[in-house]
Amino acid sequence: MTALSQNDPEAFDILQDERNRQHNTLELIASENHASAAVLEATGSVLTDKYAEGYPAHRYYRGCRPSDRTEQLAIDRAKALFGAEHANVQPHSGTSANIAVYLAALKGGDTIMGMDLSHGGHLSHGLGLNYSGIFYNAVFYTLNEQTEMLDMDAVRDLALKERPKMIIAGASAYPRKIDFEAFGRIAEEVGAYLLSDIAHIAGLVAGGVHPSPVPHSTFVTTTTHKTLRGPRSAIILCRNEWAKKIDSAVFPGLQGGPFMHQILAKAVALCEAARPEFADYAAQVVANAAALADTLMEKGWRLITGGTDNHLMLVDLRSRDENLNGHDASGALAAAGLVANKNVIPFDPRPPMQTSGLRFGTPAVTTRGMKQPEMKQIGQWIDEILTNHDDESIIERIGSKVLEMCEAFPVPNQNQAIGNRQ
Ligand SMILES: Cc1ncc(COP(=O)(O)O)c(C=O)c1O
Repeated sequence: MTALSQNDPEAFDILQDERNRQHNTLELIASENHASAAVLEATGSVLTDKYAEGYPAHRYYRGCRPSDRTEQLAIDRAKALFGAEHANVQPHSGTSANIAVYLAALKGGDTIMGMDLSHGGHLSHGLGLNYSGIFYNAVFYTLNEQTEMLDMDAVRDLALKERPKMIIAGASAYPRKIDFEAFGRIAEEVGAYLLSDIAHIAGLVAGGVHPSPVPHSTFVTTTTHKTLRGPRSAIILCRNEWAKKIDSAVFPGLQGGPFMHQILAKAVALCEAARPEFADYAAQVVANAAALADTLMEKGWRLITGGTDNHLMLVDLRSRDENLNGHDASGALAAAGLVANKNVIPFDPRPPMQTSGLRFGTPAVTTRGMKQPEMKQIGQWIDEILTNHDDESIIERIGSKVLEMCEAFPVPNQNQAIGNRQ
């Protein structure tokens, strides 16, 4: 019996449902991961009770000694892990972190320049429906139509033409390394600030398998729950000269009391990410993505840019089946316990709720301990299901194999999962 099962069986049932779902499916959504038991313990802790408006040693409320210790620990670890001069660990999410940077550095109506959402950018980089596109004049660079890669000459040309106040480097669905140094040079040339958003690749940067943007950027933001494998949250890194402005943009500019339980969990995750095992993990994430990508390409599925050198890949479904869209394809895979998301691909003729692409990522399955042989097997299953997406018996047969793999590689943060896949 747990406190939750006794107090609120309905809520407990939902939690069990999610535990079971995670245990009984393979998570291939590139932005998800499985946080450690230590991170979960900090997240579900008594620090959730505490109001600590302000910053360490400068709080509005009394009783903040443990909160001060928590936040200072997270700040020190963030600075050390990424080699940054200043860290703000209070943003609740990646989108809030980006908004705080805009608030600190820009005036309404200033021009920002980010990657087009339909080419892999994020909605907080200037989408018309988001704060970033409502309050600022957003212009977008796109990928090269032939290579489907970032074209730094084209980025420079657009920056020279538009003269943005801020350039945003970073993506949600780009399978190649990002040349932050080149972005930094362009920003300097046109007199723009550079915001590097490493939400997706922070764990790869921390693990030393992707170049760091920190030396080249005015600001770096990241979520903490993707490849970094921490709690759902975010941090902002910057140089000392921006420390005051960033801190006051986050509080009181954008938020009230910080979530101290989340900040403790961030500190835990940052400690885990500094260990040598985490560098091995990051390298395995990339090796696993390469193995999965190779398997899919051997089966004739075209990948955007022809492969991957990070944790994710984008499949162009049209390469094997003109009529298959991302919505239906992800549905067929999910029915067999392979969870991935539909994704627009560069120059996609289909709308975002349909898409011509699927996005796969390896952070979560790598956390379960899987290596290249499992990736090869998963790639073969994906191919078989996409080829026979209307055949329920094939989906069912593969579904039982997926379940066996799930049993062999349990999610490390939990041992209570039982029951059927939902
Ligand atoms: C590049 C990038 N930035 C920011 C975010 C926003 O994170 P959140 O969902 O925590 O607001 C994401 C999330 O997918 C992302 O991919």
